[in-house]
Amino acid sequence: MPKIPLVDVQAQYAPLIEELRERFDEVLASGAFIRGPNVAAFEQEAAASLGVRRTIGVANGTDALVLVLDALEIGPGDEVICPAFTFYATAESIARRGATPVFADVDAATLNLDPDDVAERVTPRTKAIMPVHLFGRPAPVAELAKLGAPILEDAAQAFGSPGIATSVASTFSFYPTKNLFCLGDGGLVAVNDDELGERVRMLAFHGSRDKVDFELVGYNSRLDELQAAFLRLFLTRLEEWTRGRREAAARYAELGLGELVELPADEPGHVYHLFVCRSPERDRIRASLADAEIASATYYTTPLHLQPALRSLGWERGSLPETERAAEENFSVPLWPGIEPAVQERVVEVVRSAVGVKV
Ligand SMILES: Cc1ncc(COP(=O)(O)O)c(C=O)c1O
Repeated sequence: MPKIPLVDVQAQYAPLIEELRERFDEVLASGAFIRGPNVAAFEQEAAASLGVRRTIGVANGTDALVLVLDALEIGPGDEVICPAFTFYATAESIARRGATPVFADVDAATLNLDPDDVAERVTPRTKAIMPVHLFGRPAPVAELAKLGAPILEDAAQAFGSPGIATSVASTFSFYPTKNLFCLGDGGLVAVNDDELGERVRMLAFHGSRDKVDFELVGYNSRLDELQAAFLRLFLTRLEEWTRGRREAAARYAELGLGELVELPADEPGHVYHLFVCRSPERDRIRASLADAEIASATYYTTPLHLQPALRSLGWERGSLPETERAAEENFSVPLWPGIEPAVQERVVEVVRSAVGVKV
């Protein structure tokens, strides 16, 4: 285990251990573990925080995507445009519905969908565009919306950003390293349309409103009460955590990391789920970081259009040049709310020596 981790989730919840225990005891005493009062309250609090009409707690971020696509009756014969530089679940959810993921390239500066490239891939079969707010940076939703198809935001990595959840539906994951996380699996769907929200809610509950009449063929995908109780507590800390992430990102820039590698392009809505840099020398840099016992990571090194399970879609290497370049060059360095400045100084020092720049 490296001495300096990539993210330190335990450091984030350590000051809240007593309060977490209280929440656990309350749920235990209530005996209500499924569809209890904490789930209902969290759904309302999350809706208020996101500025949407309704949210529906579900089992994880992947189910959230599948449920939205199902609720919109997107299936065989339909196309959904999404990036290939993202976690597999984005395209998996589309394929799981029997629809076709159509990959568009990313913008080199933001690593989010490039609206010009998306525009070229819109066809009469396009039923939705699914941008991902990658690494916490808002995707260009307003520009994508001009292309005419409904926008479904995969916001798994961006809870807390003011620039998201403005379209038909947004989905979230509460996997333990996410900006808003729980202590296990959890997810959320956010919508502004009551009818769509009701359909998602029913689908997540076996297609039923009351477990007596089953109106749709659905799923069993629920956020459980214990996780909702934890999430309510964590939601009260989210603003402070987001501030901490943005401060840490700014500090890397101040320390001169941007003179050594390409830093993630900042913007006010960026909530730095991860601090992902780029360099053609990334493997050498990562080897030096590993020698210094500093964790680093790479993301989506085999982009989705080249993944074995999606080979039948017929994509070839070279078809998404910016995606493939990002796959070869990206790497992240440690960042979490409250990361000590000395740790960041050490990271920059090691990167500096790896790229051979004299101080
Ligand atoms: C962009 C993106 N979409 C979807 C998911 C799926 O979320 P989950 O792991 O909760 O199913 C994740 C995270 O894991 C993600 O990063």
